[in-house]
Amino acid sequence: MPDNSRFTPNPETTVHPDPSALLRTKGSLEGGYGSTPELVEGCCGSTGSPRTDVMVHLADENATLNFAHRLASGLCKGLVIYLHGDLGAGKTTLVRGVLRALGYEGRVKSPTYTLLETYQAGGFELRHFDLYRLNDEEEWEVAGFRDEFNGENIFFIEWPDRAGSLLPPADLDIHLAPAESGRTLAVTAYSTQGKSCLNALSL
Ligand SMILES: Nc1ncnc2c1ncn2[C@@H]1O[C@H](COP(=O)(O)OP(=O)(O)OP(=O)(O)O)[C@@H](O)[C@H]1O
Ligand SMILES: [Mg+2]
Repeated sequence: MPDNSRFTPNPETTVHPDPSALLRTKGSLEGGYGSTPELVEGCCGSTGSPRTDVMVHLADENATLNFAHRLASGLCKGLVIYLHGDLGAGKTTLVRGVLRALGYEGRVKSPTYTLLETYQAGGFELRHFDLYRLNDEEEWEVAGFRDEFNGENIFFIEWPDRAGSLLPPADLDIHLAPAESGRTLAVTAYSTQGKSCLNALSL
């Protein structure tokens, strides 16, 4: 395990330590992969319009890919998406689904050892981090990761807590957790761009 004792996790991004606490009713949704994400809960911002918080049940991998397809339709340049969840929660599957939805046909590898994989797809520059094995700030700086945050690239960041304050704040926070069957996925938006993306999910 990396020594992250000197990193300071951003508390504002830890929003659903127990996503199942939000579980209430289920509704069905249309989708292109057969299995569909089921809306568990959604609530709107105080102004009434932008949705800031959504939870869905993903019955199987296809439902995760279906959700990723919806997410891809709301992406915009510069978006930073944190992906939380234990080993095997489905974070990389979600990124793979986004890339497929954007037309990327190549291999989508988990950046477990490289920490970063880069993609061009759908007119976007995408950056997929897995920071589980990030050792320290020096590794971050030497690898030039800071320069990636140029306001243009779109980020999917697995294990963001490993980088603490090195990362810019999230526009969207996604928490994946095992459910009785499949996974629950909770999304929270923290910015105008994040809220637009959330609204584009059409859940
Ligand atoms: N909704 C789902 N229901 C059941 N299984 C799923 C679902 N979504 C993804 N999976 C499965 O979960 C497994 C692990 O997925 P994945 O590699 O994406 O996890 P991860 O969160 O990226 O893990 P790590 O932290 O180790 O990188 C895969 O076999 C995938 O098929
Ligand atoms: Mg992964």
